[in-house]
Amino acid sequence: MQQGVNLRERRRNRSMEQFKQQPRLPKFAVPRRYDIQLKPDLATCRFAASVAIDVDVISNTQFLVLNAADLTIHDHAVSFTPRNSSKVLEPFKVHLVEEDEILVLEFSETLLVGMGVLAIEFEGCLSDKMKGFYRSTYEHNGEKKNMAVTQFEPADARRCFPCWDEPACKATFKVTLDVPSELVALSNMPVLEEKEYGDLKTVSYEESPIMSTYLVAIVVGLFDYVEDYTSDGIKVRVYCQVGKANQGKFALHVAVKTLEVYKEYFAVPYSLPKLDMIAIPDFAAGAMENYGLVTYRETALLYDDQHSAAANKQRVATVVAHELAHQWFGNLVTMEWWTHLWLNEGFATWVSYLATDKLFPEWKIWTQFLDESTEGLRLDGLEESHPIEVEINHASEIDEIFDAISYRKGASVIRMLQSYLGAECFQRSLASYIKRYACSNAKTEDLWAALEEGSGEPVNRLMSSWTKQKGYPVVSVKVKDQKLELEQSQFLSSGCLGDGQWIVPITFCCGSYDVHKNFLLQSKSATVDIEELLGCSVDDHGKNAACSWIKLNMDQSGFYRVKYDEYLAARLRYAIENKYLSPTDRFGILDDSFALCMAGQQSLTSLLTLMGAYREELDYTVLSNLITISYKVVRIAVDAQPEIVDDIKQFFIGLFQYAAEKLGWEPKPGESHLDCMLRGEILTALANFGHDETLSEANRRFQAFLEDRKTPLLSPDIRKASYVAVMKRVNQSNKWGYESLLRVYRETDLSQEKTRILSSLSSCCDPSLVLEVLNFVLSPEVRSQDAVFGLAVSVEGRETAWTWLKDNWEYISKTWGSGFLITRFVSAIVSPFASSEKAKEVEDFFSSRAKPSIARTLKQSIERVHINARWVSSIQQEEHLAEAAKELAYRKY
Ligand code: BES
Ligand code: ZN
Repeated sequence: MQQGVNLRERRRNRSMEQFKQQPRLPKFAVPRRYDIQLKPDLATCRFAASVAIDVDVISNTQFLVLNAADLTIHDHAVSFTPRNSSKVLEPFKVHLVEEDEILVLEFSETLLVGMGVLAIEFEGCLSDKMKGFYRSTYEHNGEKKNMAVTQFEPADARRCFPCWDEPACKATFKVTLDVPSELVALSNMPVLEEKEYGDLKTVSYEESPIMSTYLVAIVVGLFDYVEDYTSDGIKVRVYCQVGKANQGKFALHVAVKTLEVYKEYFAVPYSLPKLDMIAIPDFAAGAMENYGLVTYRETALLYDDQHSAAANKQRVATVVAHELAHQWFGNLVTMEWWTHLWLNEGFATWVSYLATDKLFPEWKIWTQFLDESTEGLRLDGLEESHPIEVEINHASEIDEIFDAISYRKGASVIRMLQSYLGAECFQRSLASYIKRYACSNAKTEDLWAALEEGSGEPVNRLMSSWTKQKGYPVVSVKVKDQKLELEQSQFLSSGCLGDGQWIVPITFCCGSYDVHKNFLLQSKSATVDIEELLGCSVDDHGKNAACSWIKLNMDQSGFYRVKYDEYLAARLRYAIENKYLSPTDRFGILDDSFALCMAGQQSLTSLLTLMGAYREELDYTVLSNLITISYKVVRIAVDAQPEIVDDIKQFFIGLFQYAAEKLGWEPKPGESHLDCMLRGEILTALANFGHDETLSEANRRFQAFLEDRKTPLLSPDIRKASYVAVMKRVNQSNKWGYESLLRVYRETDLSQEKTRILSSLSSCCDPSLVLEVLNFVLSPEVRSQDAVFGLAVSVEGRETAWTWLKDNWEYISKTWGSGFLITRFVSAIVSPFASSEKAKEVEDFFSSRAKPSIARTLKQSIERVHINARWVSSIQQEEHLAEAAKELAYRKY
């Protein structure tokens, strides 16, 4: 008898085993509607809850399998009631499988096909990990308080209530909250009913349209708000901390306008009756697109007239535009599985530029888009990159793919396709895709199919080469026998040869933007007759009076790099000096040349010579890239040829003088947004390169600021430059500047000011102070969401930072290990190194500390160290670099 029971038990367990270690839930039963009741206690940080789920049993089963994690399930309060039956079935066993974050309910009777209600009572705690249902803290009238917030994407709704926590398991949600009566309680939908009883109130919300679990949201705390309406009468509110409502006005304006832009663009109106946006003091990501209740970091939502910089304003506008794009692309039409995450993120990124451009054409945001492409190209130039469509086998792998491939490469290939198909046809096809998949889920192929139908072009074939394989091509171009010869091969930053091949939309123009040609490069190489294009003859190098230069990848709309032969490159340099080229093309030529230099395919001397052609550059995006590249060049020179570093810095200081003199320190009445941003970046660069006059002037202005926080001498746009300059003059025997900055940090209640300071502190050169800064970053004075801003360490502090990371790894791993912020510690501190010995040391250290959530980032960071090491040795072999650097440093313009 006893044996019989054991046998039965074992057989059951065996069938229960089938649900473990599976990437996805079985679909023999799926949810249709959730009725959720939550009672958070903000003092004890626990919550009591229950959920009733309308479940559709698709095939007869003895099991229900759904997600749950970190919850205490009340085993005796779990039941299933088939519809049209008075019989309540209680599970024979309730298994909570921790490693797989699943809840397996086993019934002794078979649940038959048809609807039923699964009811579960449970409890949980409000974590401090910025995910699931968590607590954030704030001060009110000098008192420290807790608020309750949710962050469910990608897979943390299961930490708040048991659910089918996959994007394709859409259902409707009815939420009810029991909260203290004086608090604001928000969820995705408008309030249906509110009842007070004593100190508590029960707030119930309207039922949502069908949506995925990762978009459910709840916020409970004290807030003020500002509100407005769209022309369709949708109520839009921005909630902020009490007393800060004015700071929400800019985002409110952007949101109202943006909803109108998207309604037009997608040809479908916003689908909920209200939109709330709210600033959360502790928030891991930048913002989260929860349906109807979008949550933000304070820095990404609040704009202060007095203390926010132009860059902060632009950040608010683009983040709002991005999250609102998701209300269509993501919330209404949702990816079928995380493999298609890029459909959400790449698309929202691309379309946020479209909306921002409509609202603020003077920002020339499409030129700034090139920052997205270049970051995409940078990550995708690694062997350890991944295809846009990436296989996901476990929830722990999802966090790491919210990366530059999904966002930036994703957005860039969309831009490339739009430019190939034409804006109008692209928009029409998109609108029909949104209509077709509204309230449902889609895969990458579904988008291609809609675009293929709308355009008659082979979109699927073309785009699969970009989304199903990692990497991208470099197109080498030369002129031979009056013909342009093109050849593609995979570009890798290591300089190695990859074997990928793509269908490349080639565009090029000759001597003028009016003389151009487009075609698809479908094989390894192609030849183009330029004489035919020009209608006249050219010399051996493809030159004639009408065609002084040839530029491929016009407007940088393609996601690839171009390598020109020497003659073509020299003529492009000439075209840049003579201002024949657009900012986007000037950006592209510089960026490709830098990438080729790093990959050892071009000398540093030739890169520096090219940079010299930008001495009268004034475009914000081009100059800002010139600055980024100059930082990287100086860093590598420190390892490769330390004796030339001063000359290189001198050269860059000279290069930036033209713009610095034009812009000056003071904002000019009526000047452009881009000039405001540029002023800050140029002065920061001069401070970083130790330009004496800049350091002195910045310190003088900082003094004035300390005396009067409202001084016109230190506008928000130049504060970062001034802080960096102050830190450059700080050392152990003179810590005045550091201590003063800490004072400003402690006094301000504006998070943009706090991040500005944090990101300046570690630029000091004294390693012992870098260590103090890093320890400060781990102190309770810095919110855990902000620690990563303090990791931009100067080259002098690089080794100290690495030792610090090792010494504090256990704490860091415990504090940030369950989110994606931990990857930033690894990449920021490891990637700047440039020797294979260091790469080995890093590998050894992490070999016993491996975690799936940092695996990809760690490999990528180590690969970067190897790339830097190779770059160092290729620079060391350059013969005339030192003379060239000297010549450039002392050249008189
Ligand atoms: N869906 C993301 C938020 C997110 C990121 C959730 C990572 C889970 C993990 C949101 O739409 C987003 O992309 N936010 C960006 C800002 C945006 C402007 C690029 C972010 O958080 O950085
Ligand atoms: Zn997004």
